[in-house]
Amino acid sequence: MRLPVIIVNFKAYGEATGGNAVRLAQLCDAVAREHDVSIAVAPQYHDIAPVKDAVSLQVFAQHIDPVAKAGAFTGHAVAENLKEAGIVGTLINHSEKKMAEADIKKCIGIAKSVGIVSVCCAATPEETGSIAELAPDFIAIEPTELIGSGVSVSKAKPEVVTQSVDIVSARNSKVTVLCGAGITNGADISEALRLGTRGVLVASGVVKSPDPGKVLAEFANALKLG
Ligand code: G3P
Repeated sequence: MRLPVIIVNFKAYGEATGGNAVRLAQLCDAVAREHDVSIAVAPQYHDIAPVKDAVSLQVFAQHIDPVAKAGAFTGHAVAENLKEAGIVGTLINHSEKKMAEADIKKCIGIAKSVGIVSVCCAATPEETGSIAELAPDFIAIEPTELIGSGVSVSKAKPEVVTQSVDIVSARNSKVTVLCGAGITNGADISEALRLGTRGVLVASGVVKSPDPGKVLAEFANALKLG
């Protein structure tokens, strides 16, 4: 995945489901092309294939279950099947879909064996350290209390970001750090990059915005300035 990156998490917002998901993904695609920046999207499972068919962006799942192979797993999110639907990666252990460490470890292994990118979420610098030992491709530090708050982690808790970057670098330098929670403007992204991350996860700042295109363009300009 080209860095720095903006990963737009569509969550289960009505503004980003069904036809709205395709339209929002197309908006992200247009901004990524116009500004030549790296944007990825994480729609709900049922929107992965329609979104993949509509854009050239990288598409992520919001979660995978610790199920190694397709089979009799009713209701499970199976990585190899989601790859068939069009994902190139997945979030793991998002604060809204927390997992036991053993399952996180299994899912990172499944992602590697299936050949998709793993972006593991962590709520604290301490959690980034234990997850770094499991060797995901990326760790996204996202303090739970700031998610959806509109108060960005890079501004409200810069020390959490720098601690996470330092801890991950010490525990497993191959893991790249992203951050998320409360990102709403270009300054939040510039600060996240200044603090040592290589990109952000964002949801409500884009999905719930009255003008997502305007927000995405501001994000893209901040990303280009690095
Ligand atoms: O995965 C990113 C998400 O949890 C951040 O949410 O609404 O604060 O951008 P939000």
